Amino acid sequence: MKKVLIAYSSRTEKTKTMANYIAEGIRFSGCDVEVKPISALETAEDIAGYDCYVFGCPTYHKDMTGGMKNFLFKAEQARLVGKFGGAFGSHTHSGESAPMIYDTMLHVFKMDMTELGPLNLTESMVLSNEGLKSCQQYGKALAEKLA
Ligand SMILES: Cc1cc2nc3c(=O)[nH]c(=O)nc-3n(C[C@H](O)[C@H](O)[C@H](O)COP(=O)(O)O)c2cc1C
Repeated sequence: MKKVLIAYSSRTEKTKTMANYIAEGIRFSGCDVEVKPISALETAEDIAGYDCYVFGCPTYHKDMTGGMKNFLFKAEQARLVGKFGGAFGSHTHSGESAPMIYDTMLHVFKMDMTELGPLNLTESMVLSNEGLKSCQQYGKALAEKLA
């Protein structure tokens, strides 16, 4: 069974909620998925060994969180070249974080990123039924491509 790692940072749990909904979509499609806060992934060894990676964080002050920036330096050492991936984030109005993570995974790590692009939802969307469905569909599409 293919294994997926979803790693997220979240201050007030909206991005964490997205991570869990994306995981549901992946599980429905028969892949194994682990959802972890970036604080639980301390070394490159903790990150290596999965078939697919989905990273997410909220936008604060038009930027990724500091924690996500540090996490991406660790992920660089895990050598994710060619691995399939996606990115996500929540925001209120500008939403820089998800595309920044996606671009780093694509251009720096040279990963095979989903053609869907990053999943970038407003916080009100995250808390709606429509948001739940978008996250589940994103996870389902990732898992289907992986299979
Ligand atoms: C101090 C502060 C700064 C923020 N800056 C931005 C911003 O620059 N752009 C944006 O789209 N959202 C911004 N937000 C909104 C958050 O991205 C949004 O609430 C997000 O859903 C929080 O995610 P979390 O619950 O996973 O921490 C900001 C929120 C706070 C409290």
